[in-house]
Amino acid sequence: MKQLQDKITQEGLVLGNNVLKVDSFLNHQMDPALMQAIGQEFVRRYAGERITKVLTIESSGIAPGLMTALELNVPLIFARKQKSLTLREDIIVEKVYSFTKQETNEVTVSKRFLSADDRVLIIDDFLANGEAASGLARIVEQVGASVAGFGIVIEKSFQPGRQMLLDAGYRVESLARIASLSNEGVTFVDETAE
Ligand code: G4P
Ligand code: NA
Ligand code: NA
Repeated sequence: MKQLQDKITQEGLVLGNNVLKVDSFLNHQMDPALMQAIGQEFVRRYAGERITKVLTIESSGIAPGLMTALELNVPLIFARKQKSLTLREDIIVEKVYSFTKQETNEVTVSKRFLSADDRVLIIDDFLANGEAASGLARIVEQVGASVAGFGIVIEKSFQPGRQMLLDAGYRVESLARIASLSNEGVTFVDETAE
């Protein structure tokens, strides 16, 4: 998605440890018009998939997730993260390990908002190791619902998340795919060469 790549090139900051800082439009300040265009692009790519719910995880997935859900005219659910949890019967729980933060969170969704006949599009802001993404897919599958696929705003293609999801049989649509991050800047995957 050209508009997004341009924004990353103009405003993204490469940090030393293979991290891209995009807090001027995605992770802190948010660009509503860009989020709307992102939602429309996910909907275009998943046209005909009969999606009934959009699922993301707090907090930075909510903006692109909401714009996608608005465009589809379906609800958005954001999974909640918590460090530990007293067991309750009305929630779906999956453990998600973060390599970046070196901690495990319990990710939860209320059983009231997902059912076996749902077809779910999973949206997230970043795809790196794929731990959050696969945790969200497990939540969907726990209730017997189906995953239509993943919609990722920024994929770090040099990390294993995309391939892990593809190997598990999921469809992955990433609007910006980053081949490398260096002092010289951001290099995108050449999708015409694939
Ligand atoms: P994984 O789920 O793909 O395995 O990723 P990981 O644990 O490494 O990511 C932990 C957090 O860091 C996630 O946000 C993820 O979106 C974010 N992240 C990963 N790589 C980058 C990067 O290069 N740049 C930025 N800006 N973020 C990155 P989170 O903890 O869920 O936070 P938030 O959604 O509340 O912002
Ligand atoms: Na994030
Ligand atoms: Na996220």
